[in-house]
Amino acid sequence: MNSSFSRRAFLEGAAATVGAALIAGCGSGSSQTPQAKESGQGYTLANTQLPPNGEAIAFTFPNGKAGLLYRSKEGQSGAVSAVCTHQGCTVEWTDGNPQAAFSCPCHQSKFDLQGKQLGGPAKAPLAHYAATQNNTDIELKLL
Ligand code: FES
Repeated sequence: MNSSFSRRAFLEGAAATVGAALIAGCGSGSSQTPQAKESGQGYTLANTQLPPNGEAIAFTFPNGKAGLLYRSKEGQSGAVSAVCTHQGCTVEWTDGNPQAAFSCPCHQSKFDLQGKQLGGPAKAPLAHYAATQNNTDIELKLL
């Protein structure tokens, strides 16, 4: 009886520890996506978020919608809404190719660096933002 109780207590304790670790893991994962703040006529991100040339980072707008802040291979920076205008899937950064910088994994719509649709079923462009860097922030303004 005692060994049965001890085994059950051990298993319950182990399950609680694993559950807490999973919750902590989820919490730290979601906090890694930077969140833009509303600012005047646009949004700001900390300028430490600006990716290297040829890369993009995911961020969220204050309303929780996904965005991508990018810097082209040539150093041109900007941001787009990452919500596909076809059916709302999250578009992904490709390789910084200005002719197909973003693609949608759901139905393969393609968009250029300015968010203009290039192919696939999407008929509208992604919202595109100019990204201007100052000493502390990256300011995003809708174009
Ligand atoms: S949701 Fe993006 S192409 Fe359909």
